Amino acid sequence: MTLWGGRFTQSLDSLAWALNSSLPVDQRMAIQDVEGSIAWAAAIHNAGILTDEEHASISLGLGTVRKEFASGEFSFVPSDEDIHTAVERRLSELIGAAAGKLHTGRSRNDQVATDFRLWMLQAIPELTSAFNNLQSALVEQAELAGETIMPGYTHLQRAQPILLGHWWLSHYWALKRDVERLQDLTKRVSVLPLGSGALAGAPFALDRDALAKSLGFAEVSQNSLDAVSDRDFAAEYLFVCSMAAIHLSKLAEQVVLYTTAEFGFFELSDAFSTGSSLMPQKKNPDVFELTRGKAGTLIGLLTGLMSTLKGLPSTYDKDLQEDKAPVFQTTDTLLSILPVMAEALRTITVKPERMRSAIDSTMMATDLADYLVEKGVPFREAHSLAGKVVRAAGEGKVRMEELPLEAYQAISPVFEADVYQAFDPLESINKRNTVGGTSLQSVKNQIKKIKGE
Ligand code: ARG
Repeated sequence: MTLWGGRFTQSLDSLAWALNSSLPVDQRMAIQDVEGSIAWAAAIHNAGILTDEEHASISLGLGTVRKEFASGEFSFVPSDEDIHTAVERRLSELIGAAAGKLHTGRSRNDQVATDFRLWMLQAIPELTSAFNNLQSALVEQAELAGETIMPGYTHLQRAQPILLGHWWLSHYWALKRDVERLQDLTKRVSVLPLGSGALAGAPFALDRDALAKSLGFAEVSQNSLDAVSDRDFAAEYLFVCSMAAIHLSKLAEQVVLYTTAEFGFFELSDAFSTGSSLMPQKKNPDVFELTRGKAGTLIGLLTGLMSTLKGLPSTYDKDLQEDKAPVFQTTDTLLSILPVMAEALRTITVKPERMRSAIDSTMMATDLADYLVEKGVPFREAHSLAGKVVRAAGEGKVRMEELPLEAYQAISPVFEADVYQAFDPLESINKRNTVGGTSLQSVKNQIKKIKGE
């Protein structure tokens, strides 16, 4: 049974049928389709389109269809073009002719947009809790890190000492923005298209506000043409997810780097490492590499949908059927990555001594300049004097703290015996005590703020 046989004398070519069919993808919206139909039946009953008996019979029938989906008993038949067709076909098997009245005033154009939005409204909280779990793992590690010092990098060159806790939390804050974006997106997803018909609206008195309320939408769409063609929410969802995946890939890349023998800052637990089929010694960070790699796939899905949307004539075009697969794939990808990342990070071993030994005193050259600034030297001059100390140490093949005081005083008489305090990395860290700095106090404040939220 097709939904549109009336004007045709020939049935659709079987290959064209296969191309047209979207059931393999959109059957994931089965429950949403049934819910939407139950609400629609009530709305057209209230508008006087269905008699009480018809409404009761349709509601009962849809209740059975929902149960069949929930228990896995629902069977599709080869003629089910998409999930909407399948639900209506099953309803008519269950209740007969009355099923034919359900679609009054409705089109699959407003129906599919409604189902898709409903699906996304349940996916957002699920994704949010997966993100929150990873965020908790990062905070737990930050708390465990205490005073552990590590080198901070810019340009992947050693820059300044930082607290490991500060580094863990840097990833927390990025994910917090992702979660905020997901929440913010909710208000643009929570707009009901149903009642827009194919494009021009419904031809009878319909209480769309009540319909929205019954389905849990915050608002109703204000323009039917826009409502059936709007897929901004899907593109935005893919962007929010891609941005999150970019954040995850950055974290993953650092774990990959820091677990190398060259860095040795972390060691992955065996449960989250993989071996090599050839090299017995290998312990590979596949989980993190896949996270890094899948970010590329997700960006591709975002780009793909945006390209599909570009230049589409108003209103519904079949191109729009391409909207669901990228959203489902993106969601599945994140839901598979996030819990694994969280557990892999919870069980990672930190090597504080390796991190500490990667700090060399040149990383305190800024502190040396700050030392001069405190003694009244303008920063530009202090920067150059500290640079001269770095050079003198390099030429003498000694560490900066090994240069005798005379060598310092030859560079500037402002240097005094207390200069050597500038080379204590923890001092350097704790001096950075402004809001957002790496000091122990500041990291504790971040954790307090996070936990108080
Ligand atoms: N399967 C279609 C989709 O996902 C449903 C809408 C079909 N509308 C139509 N006018 N053929 O977009």
